[in-house]
Amino acid sequence: MLDRLQAQAPDALLALIKLYAADPRSDKIDLGVGVYRTNEGATPVFKAIKAAEQALIEEQDSKSYLGPEGDLGFVHALMPYIFGKDATMGGRIEGMQTPGGTGAVRLAAAVAKAAGVTRVHMGTPSWPNHAQIFADLGLELVAFTHATADGAADIEAVLGAIGDAQDGDAVLLHGCCHNPTGVDYTPDQWDAIADALAESPALAILDSAYHGLGLGLEEDAYGVRRVLSKLGEALVAYSCDKNFGMYRDRVGALYVLAKSADGLPPILSNLNALARANWSMPPDHGGAAVRLVLRNPDRTQMWLDELDDMRARMRRVRERLAAADNEVPGLGLAALADQHGLFAILPLSKEQIAALREDHAIYMAGSGRINIAGLHAGNTEKFIAALKAVTA
Ligand code: LMR
Repeated sequence: MLDRLQAQAPDALLALIKLYAADPRSDKIDLGVGVYRTNEGATPVFKAIKAAEQALIEEQDSKSYLGPEGDLGFVHALMPYIFGKDATMGGRIEGMQTPGGTGAVRLAAAVAKAAGVTRVHMGTPSWPNHAQIFADLGLELVAFTHATADGAADIEAVLGAIGDAQDGDAVLLHGCCHNPTGVDYTPDQWDAIADALAESPALAILDSAYHGLGLGLEEDAYGVRRVLSKLGEALVAYSCDKNFGMYRDRVGALYVLAKSADGLPPILSNLNALARANWSMPPDHGGAAVRLVLRNPDRTQMWLDELDDMRARMRRVRERLAAADNEVPGLGLAALADQHGLFAILPLSKEQIAALREDHAIYMAGSGRINIAGLHAGNTEKFIAALKAVTA
C-alpha cells in the first residue's frame, strides 16, 4: 500500500539548511531558517540555559511520566511574562506544555476544530507551516493581506477579515515579530483589533513565537494582553525555541482563556485528549530547563540580559540595512528600521534569489524572506553589495 504514496517535496525552508551546509564557500551567508546568530555567526546555547541544565542534572530525581500537560511549573513560570502581573485573569487562563510552537499551533487548531471551527482567517504571507497544519486538519484557510507594499500592517484588511468572520471561524494573528514580514501591528492597531474581535463570533488564536525579540518582553506582549483583556475566550500558542534558544529541544506551550474559571476544565480535558492522541506527552528536558531559569533570579537576569543583547544586535543590523536604502533602491530597505524580530521580506524575484545563492553564496527563503540575525558586522556589507549586484 505504501507504494501508492506520491513523493513529497522536502519542506523548502528546512531544505535550505542542508543546501547551505553543503556549500563549500567560506564566505557563505545563511539568511534561511529562523535561528538567532551572534556577531560571529554562531547559535550558542544561552548561558542561562547552560546554568539551568547544570542545576537540572543535580536536581532531577526521576524521568517518570508527567502526563499530556507536561511540566506545569514551566507553563506557569512563563505566564507573568506573557500575560502580565494578573497572569491568570481571575483564574480564566491555564496552559499545557507542547512540543515547540508548532505543537502549540497544531493543538490550537485541533481543539478549535473539535469546538466546531471549520475556517481560519489568516494574514498572508505567513509562516508556511501555518497553512500546512490547517490543511492537514481539514480546516479551510481564508487569506487576507497582512502588510501593505510600503511595509506597514494592512489594518483595514485584518479588520475586514474579523468583520467578515462568522460563527465557526477562527482568526489567527501573530503576537509579535511577524514571520515572515517583520511587520507588527502598532498598539493603536491592536486596540482596534481587540475591539473588533470583541464584537466578532470568531475564535482568536494568537501565535507568539518570538516574544522578547522585537521591542522587549513587555512591549511585545501588548497585542496578546490587549486582545485577551477584551475577549471571553482565546487560544495563545507560545514558543520558547527562539527566546530561550531551545530550537531542537522543542519547547512550547498552549494557553487557553475561558469565559470563566469553571469553563476551563472541560476545555483542558479536550486539550489533554488531543495531546495524548498526537504525541502523548511533550519532551521534558527543555521545559524543565526554562522553568529552572525562571524560578531563579540570577538565571532569569542572565536570560533577560541575553535577550537584550540579541535585540540590540538585530536592531543595529536593521538600521544598517535601512541606511542602505539609497544604495539599493526599490527594495524598501528603509522600512526595515520600523519592523521587528528576525525577519523581513525583500521584493526580490526568483531569479534574483537564485543569483544571490549561486553567485554570492547567500541563502534565503524563496519568498524573499531574510533572517536578519544571519547578518553581522562581518558580512552585512557583502550582503548589501550582492543586493546591489543582483538588482542593478
Ligand atoms: C522559521 O520560520 O524559520 C522558523 O519558525 C523555523 C521553522 O520551524 O520553520
